[in-house]
Amino acid sequence: MAADVELERVSKLYGSFKAVDDVTLRIPKGSFISILGSSGAGKSTVLRMIGGFEYPDYGTVRIAGQDVTMLPPYRRDVNTVFQNYALFPHMNAAENVAYGLRQDGVAAEERKSRVREALQMVEMLPYAMRKPNELSGGQQQRIALARALVKRPAVLLLDEPLGALDRKLRQQMQVELKLLQSRLGLTFVFVTHDQEEALAMSDSIAVMRDGKIEQLGGPTELYDTPATAFVASFIGAQNFIAGDRVDDTLHMKSAEGLSFAAGQATPHLGRGARVLGAVRPENVLVAVEEPQAAANRLKATVAASVMLGDSLEYVLRLDSGGEFIARLPRRGMPAIAPGMKVFAHWEPQFFQLFPYEDLRDARSFVA
Ligand SMILES: Nc1ncnc2c1ncn2[C@@H]1O[C@H](COP(=O)(O)OP(=O)(O)OP(=O)(O)O)[C@@H](O)[C@H]1O
Ligand SMILES: [Mg+2]
Repeated sequence: MAADVELERVSKLYGSFKAVDDVTLRIPKGSFISILGSSGAGKSTVLRMIGGFEYPDYGTVRIAGQDVTMLPPYRRDVNTVFQNYALFPHMNAAENVAYGLRQDGVAAEERKSRVREALQMVEMLPYAMRKPNELSGGQQQRIALARALVKRPAVLLLDEPLGALDRKLRQQMQVELKLLQSRLGLTFVFVTHDQEEALAMSDSIAVMRDGKIEQLGGPTELYDTPATAFVASFIGAQNFIAGDRVDDTLHMKSAEGLSFAAGQATPHLGRGARVLGAVRPENVLVAVEEPQAAANRLKATVAASVMLGDSLEYVLRLDSGGEFIARLPRRGMPAIAPGMKVFAHWEPQFFQLFPYEDLRDARSFVA
């Protein structure tokens, strides 16, 4: 049976450094949540506190309504799949999966049938007798998963379990994991720094930054209505323009005095405040003639075009300095070649205003 997980005002300090800073999070039972963030954001520390490998300095951890804050891992109804799946090299796949049950003193007959069932779940029964060094990375990953599933935990914690796999295998495992999770109805808490992976797999995503959860929401919600410029830049790609909001309107002015119209602004944005306007590359159009009617346009020179398979990405160098990215479907595109003078333009509905923050590390940022 699945269980829900609850973190209430949880903090973890290393010396005076707050690795996790006042995190509150409710994970409904049977759901798939991803904890997404860059390196050092505190993702693994959150997971380790749910698993019992780390104890919080403040706050409460509950599993199925029970306070487990200070309980050791073996007294919690959870299991963890670590990034380096750490299979025992001298044991074959079946023995690896059976190991935990043997430790728990599960009788031989039951052990045998549960190992079989777990191997079947991850489609590895035919490989039961192989040693880890006779298995591919993806196969080893599945054995690690079976080893966790065989204990029938209510909650499965996964810390970047697909990190070591190549892209194709990773995408295949993403689908399989997601199917397995919904079939078994277990609660999955999945740590990743890969935003595409989080978008593809999750019911909800918690975006972490500097030990805090910056936004919690479903994939579509995070992608379409990010709460901050940071989340906007972390999930998917963005072009940013820095400037000042014009009074209480949805308009902004850049340093060069260019005006832009937005469709939405985050709440609590002061009048005349310093802002970042953001538009995603797939919402930027490119025209050779000046689009007089367009509410938002920038003059640019095509610096490069990058083939992405089903689309083309144009890197546009602005006359005002800075870069802008446009991603366009290949079909039906006018011929646009590097060196050409063009106009980038986009609709206000795709332009969102955020309180200013320094995101000059973002790929396309117009100061
Ligand atoms: N045992 C420890 N002692 C001191 N600092 C620690 C310890 N464990 C983690 N930290 C620090 O806490 C912060 C959060 O670490 P954590 O492992 O949770 O990050 P993460 O988001 O999982 O990053 P990554 O994507 O690199 O795995 C980091 O700055 C890390 O250096
Ligand atoms: Mg980590």
